[in-house]
Amino acid sequence: MKALVLEAVNTAPVFKEVETPSPKAGEVLIKIEAAALNHRDIYISQGLYPNIKIPVIPGSDGAGTVIELGADVSAKWLNKPVIINPNNNWGQNPAVQDKKYHILGMPTNGTLCEYLCVKADRLVEKPEHLSFVQAAALPLAGLTAYRSLFTKAGLKKGERLLVSGIGGGVALMGFQMAMAIDAEVWVTSGANEKIDLAVSLGAVGGINYKTENWHKELEKKANGGFDVILDSAGGEGFQYFLDLANPAARIVFYGGTCGSFKVNPQKMFWKQLSMFGSTMGDDNDFCLMIEFINKYKIEPFVKETWALSEGAEAFKHMDEGQQFGKIVLLP
Ligand SMILES: NC(=O)c1ccc[n+]([C@@H]2O[C@H](COP(=O)([O-])OP(=O)(O)OC[C@H]3O[C@@H](n4cnc5c(N)ncnc54)[C@H](OP(=O)(O)O)[C@@H]3O)[C@@H](O)[C@H]2O)c1
Repeated sequence: MKALVLEAVNTAPVFKEVETPSPKAGEVLIKIEAAALNHRDIYISQGLYPNIKIPVIPGSDGAGTVIELGADVSAKWLNKPVIINPNNNWGQNPAVQDKKYHILGMPTNGTLCEYLCVKADRLVEKPEHLSFVQAAALPLAGLTAYRSLFTKAGLKKGERLLVSGIGGGVALMGFQMAMAIDAEVWVTSGANEKIDLAVSLGAVGGINYKTENWHKELEKKANGGFDVILDSAGGEGFQYFLDLANPAARIVFYGGTCGSFKVNPQKMFWKQLSMFGSTMGDDNDFCLMIEFINKYKIEPFVKETWALSEGAEAFKHMDEGQQFGKIVLLP
């Protein structure tokens, strides 16, 4: 089969012929119809991820059709369109993942290929309202956004939410989920066109985080603060979320693209703020996320599809941050 293989860090992944895997007991073989990129794949290719093991086929997000069953797998899966839960070994504690936890695509081979074997308990039927391309865009971003917004921050209808860096895959999924429950959503971005796009999709407004005193401008525009703030950037700008937070607000973050941040303790305790770090989600979160997507008929926003053979270009494009939503690769 053909696959994108990362052969060394700080090099582009190579599109090449590799051996097609065979399902072991408890596993199925999936013909991948579509696979999506996450920033994680870029970090892995740049060596910015712990316990890197190469060569590896990256990719945590995929949707496809089950074409072969290993021993002890229910016949109901054969020929089913599925999406893959990228969690492995979360463990028993819903609050935190086990030490053995790992995400599909590192250290085990992932979805950027034509055929993939996974355990049958990682399969979820593809929601009928989604194409394979849309379904591939869902797992990692959908799970991270769902746990951050609902399991952790408890976002409710009518609350004011600020989503920072709306061009990001998780950010945009969070935005779509919040819109579905009728939260009032505001956004930030480093690109004015992305703010305009978010507004055309239902955001109330936004601000470019490269503007001087962007937080003051945003507070003026929004005529007040926010009940929940969703962020993956961290860095210098994070401290201003404490100014933008309403009393008793919840700030939730799942990434640190711009590095460490400062927190003013007086602002935190006086306003009775809560801060949550969030990573992926357990299998229960994954099921709840799929239920949510089915209930509200959410269609993940896919900006671009690329051929798997163009994967190296797609990695570069994502690294440059030009995307709005997910980049999907087609084998
Ligand atoms: N903990 C977890 O489970 C988990 C899961 C998924 C991702 N992550 C992490 O979360 C981060 C985003 O991942 P992703 O896959 O969504 O990446 P992505 O699709 O590449 O999005 C990155 C986005 O970050 C935004 N950004 C950059 N600088 C910013 C700043 N100074 N302030 C606000 N936003 C800024 C940009 O938004 P604009 O384009 O709008 O400027 C960019 O589009 C990565 O660090 C990733 O490792 C963690």
